Amino acid sequence: MSIIISPSILSADFANLERDIKLVEKAGADWLHIDVMDGHFVPNITIGVPVVNSIRKVTDMPLDVHLMIENPEKYIKQFAQAGADIITFHYEAVDDIEHIVNLIKSLGVKAGMSIKPATAAQDILQYLPILDLLLVMTVEPGFGGQKFMQDCAEKIPLIKEKAHNNLIIQVDGGINAETARICTQYGANSLVAGNYIYKSGDISYAISSLRN
Ligand code: DX5
Ligand code: ZN
Repeated sequence: MSIIISPSILSADFANLERDIKLVEKAGADWLHIDVMDGHFVPNITIGVPVVNSIRKVTDMPLDVHLMIENPEKYIKQFAQAGADIITFHYEAVDDIEHIVNLIKSLGVKAGMSIKPATAAQDILQYLPILDLLLVMTVEPGFGGQKFMQDCAEKIPLIKEKAHNNLIIQVDGGINAETARICTQYGANSLVAGNYIYKSGDISYAISSLRN
């Protein structure tokens, strides 16, 4: 499976969002990562459904929507209707995992689940068979530009060992060319990067350096 690169628009200029989306699309990004934060699950507020709806109109890239919100089940349908292709909720925010995964899949969207740094891989192995994507956070969710946590990436080999062949194992937080290599060697096959791509000064170079 080749590596899926998903630039996080959290590091883009929100006043020039269409321009910044086109920049990563032209540079060969595979997906577009959209960080939704509610000020409760994480101490930051970002993007909601209307923005996803507007983004859908200006790009054909798959929209990879990362929900860092409480009660995600309340909003899944709206994000699907707004044009999300992948919806990732947080394990720590949900009681009935199977229910929410079935809900996401019933809307024709790929189902992802994310784990925060404090959540052990062992705790979520039972859910791998029903997931399309497992997102291992390599920073505490909430902000771009934080430092990569190596011990989070060390969860990947066990997940990889227990995963089905089509599971996408994604990492998010502090990803650059060097930390990307660590994660892909452990078995990650999708990389989210915000600051490294948008603040690099050379978006095409940044994306290709993540891929190699
Ligand atoms: C953090 C978000 C990330 C963030 C990554 O909570 O989930 O997607 O944008 O930003 P960088 O790559 O700058 O760490
Ligand atoms: Zn994210």
